[in-house]
Amino acid sequence: MLFDTHAHLTDSRFDDIDEVLDRAYDAGVRSVLLATADVDESLRSVALIGKHASHRLNLYCSVGVHPHEAKSFDLDSELALRNLLDASVENRIVAVGEIGLDYHYDLSPRETQRDVFKSQLEIAADYKLPVIIHEREATKDTLDILIDFFGAGASEDRGVIHCFSGSVETARILVKMGFCIGFDGPVTFKNNRHAPEIIASVPIDKILIETDSPYLTPVPHRGKRNEPAYVRYVLEKVAEIKGLSPDKMADVTYNNALRLFRISPQLPFKEP
Ligand code: NI
Repeated sequence: MLFDTHAHLTDSRFDDIDEVLDRAYDAGVRSVLLATADVDESLRSVALIGKHASHRLNLYCSVGVHPHEAKSFDLDSELALRNLLDASVENRIVAVGEIGLDYHYDLSPRETQRDVFKSQLEIAADYKLPVIIHEREATKDTLDILIDFFGAGASEDRGVIHCFSGSVETARILVKMGFCIGFDGPVTFKNNRHAPEIIASVPIDKILIETDSPYLTPVPHRGKRNEPAYVRYVLEKVAEIKGLSPDKMADVTYNNALRLFRISPQLPFKEP
């Protein structure tokens, strides 16, 4: 049983969404969380979940505005996100994200990114939801904001650092604060010498597996469009580094996702 905890399935490249969902199921995926990067994607993801409510997969989503889009975040965006959360049907919206800071592309002014990040941490707190955090080349400011908001003390399950690219030391601080660490296709790349060390350092109950579909395609499909079925390659790499069987690692990461996103194995959860 696999849980792809980060996929962008409303991307225009998924014009074959029915086949994509079927292939995911056939590959052992039982749940997918649609991560969203702006208000429009949040709306489309909620609609996609409604449209595919009868599929055997459990589909969930987050709502939020990515740091790239921070410059477009205004009061209307905040209202739109809160309206979606108020209307969340069967609690299918299980997180606020992806939110955070990206100083690599700097597509929005850094100060704006920080303000919008903090505003959305507030939204998540209001709805008692975990956060999905995107961080690139902004480790210090991200940690400062998170510590300022949550405190540096030990806690359970505040969110996930999606597609983690930081150091062992940063991972340690975040795990202690109650964050899970998300791993994606790049852990399968041969030239990624950093990943084994990071994976080895994170306790298994804090690991999530993600695809970030349609991006970050793992080996052996690198270069093609990514899709949730390929989360298996991420799982296998993580299991290998942890010295666990893929089945055991699948169970652990699946339960981590249920716990973090507070998905109860009651309705609307479909047992496999
Ligand atoms: Ni993403």
